Amino acid sequence: MKRTHTCGELNLSNVGQSVLLQGWVRKIRKMGAMNFVDLRDRYGITQLIIGEENAVLMENIKTEYVIEVEGIVIERKSKNLDLSTGEIEIQVSQIKIINKSELTPFLIENGIDSGEDTRMTYRYLDLRRPEMQNKLITRSKINHIVRNFLEAESFLEIETPIFGKSTPEGARDFLVPSRLNKNKFYALPQSPQLYKQLFMISGIDKYYQIARCFRDENLRADRQLEFTQLDLEMSFAIGEDVMLLVEAMIKKVLSEIKGVEFEGPLLRLSYSDAIEFYGIDKPDLRYDLKIHTLNSIFKDTEVKMLANVDDSIRGIMIDKILNKSQIELINEAAKQNSINGVGFAKFENGVWSGSIASQLSDNEKTALLKEFEIKDAGTLLVNHGKYSVISQAMGAVRIALANIFELANPNEYKALWVTEFPLFEFSEEENRYMAAHHPFTMPLPESVNDFEVNKENAKAYAYDIVLNGFELGGGSQRITDPKIQKRMFEAIELTKEQVDENFGWFMNAYKYGAPYHSGLAIGMDRLSMILTGSDSIRDVIAFPKNASGIDPMNGAPDFVTDAQLSELNIKTVK
Ligand code: AMO
Repeated sequence: MKRTHTCGELNLSNVGQSVLLQGWVRKIRKMGAMNFVDLRDRYGITQLIIGEENAVLMENIKTEYVIEVEGIVIERKSKNLDLSTGEIEIQVSQIKIINKSELTPFLIENGIDSGEDTRMTYRYLDLRRPEMQNKLITRSKINHIVRNFLEAESFLEIETPIFGKSTPEGARDFLVPSRLNKNKFYALPQSPQLYKQLFMISGIDKYYQIARCFRDENLRADRQLEFTQLDLEMSFAIGEDVMLLVEAMIKKVLSEIKGVEFEGPLLRLSYSDAIEFYGIDKPDLRYDLKIHTLNSIFKDTEVKMLANVDDSIRGIMIDKILNKSQIELINEAAKQNSINGVGFAKFENGVWSGSIASQLSDNEKTALLKEFEIKDAGTLLVNHGKYSVISQAMGAVRIALANIFELANPNEYKALWVTEFPLFEFSEEENRYMAAHHPFTMPLPESVNDFEVNKENAKAYAYDIVLNGFELGGGSQRITDPKIQKRMFEAIELTKEQVDENFGWFMNAYKYGAPYHSGLAIGMDRLSMILTGSDSIRDVIAFPKNASGIDPMNGAPDFVTDAQLSELNIKTVK
């Protein structure tokens, strides 16, 4: 390369050297006939001093022009110790314009307040901003660390097809019509699940892939239509082996990216305890604030909303006083989770107030303060409902409280395993039980014999790794006994024809000597999002889709020509 150094490289040890730098003009400051220019590239910023001899050329140079300069490194008089290059500057002798730039639609700086759609329309400029580049750099480093880690553990990186077969279960598939096979469709993979299981039958033993996955689901801050998993599978391994390996890998990533060292094994929480204490299967444990079941305290209550109820009374008492607008935020969170708001009671300076305070008996007041270990002040938020519904609502209330009082330290990382998940979940839409993880997940030993008749309580040999309130990854022990697999398909009410048609090819493989195996997949976008402190998964994806599934830069998805459609034998309904 022609450049001798990058814009983030030079320091006092280079003083006196002749250098050639190339980069973008970040800023120009004129001082008489002199120009001070900040030259930027991915590596940093270097200050240039451009003297009178180049003044005419400088008249034509604007910000974001790409230029090349030659000059001598000199020591700076007024040093900027915030910059790695802040102790030097370049006395430029020659300057050349490599390319010009129009006025950019937003400043190429950190912390701009342009709308996200504008940033996405000009994503290549957005990605020129240092904070966005740093996110991509961190993401690249994470990939590097996990690859090195898994290679050292004898894993093989193998790619699997993007054009596959559409199968029922899971999210909605993205379909791709086949020109060569009229009226037939490929499906894009929701994950490489079935292929990686086949690798185990092939004797690959330890597989991984940084795999693109596609799911046609509604988008959220931590969800995209196409996303990336670190997908892995191990033979002759049980769930415990996978969990230990993944735990060591995540600890390494956190240590190398964040300098955070975890002491001892990660906490393990059963799904039922997660719901009991936190109302959610991906609790953020950077703060405590547990949900309590309060039926015994309120068993003879005169609090109208809680009297004579035969379902679960659940509540949280935080050692803070909530004002009116904060209570409204809490009610909003509850209402979004099928609960008609919360009752509240505040305790401050020995006095109780709030919507249910006047109905509380003295015994209840004493019991509540004891239950929640409240000394000086606190606010109780409470309601009742079906256990699963009130738990979920209180889980949302817990998160809303944490947001209001900023209880989660953004520089802290709390990872845990959630285990013993339900094997099935009931789908109101389909009016049947479906596999909660996927239908290749082994039931826990206690559920193997009766899972099809005890669907409500059957437990899965599945595990999720959770980081700071996000589901980072999930996996399971796989079913390798065709008889259990057949029972599983029957349990989720797939007919023999559906099974033969959709999974026959896959089930066949299990006739030919399958080792027992388990695996897991980590959401790499989510991991990068958390470790870069980003609010949205879109910030760590180079070219993401917006909340409507659109790429504002190129307008995808878009109409195609009638000729393209007719080649595919497809007619669209206008
Ligand atoms: P699962 O469906 O739990 O498991 O996905 C694993 C992880 O992938 C990430 N993830 C997503 N990230 C962004 N956008 C999405 N739409 C999205 N969906 C999932 C999450 C999640 O924890 N084949 C199994 C894994 C296995 O059993 O080995 C699977 O895909 O971080």
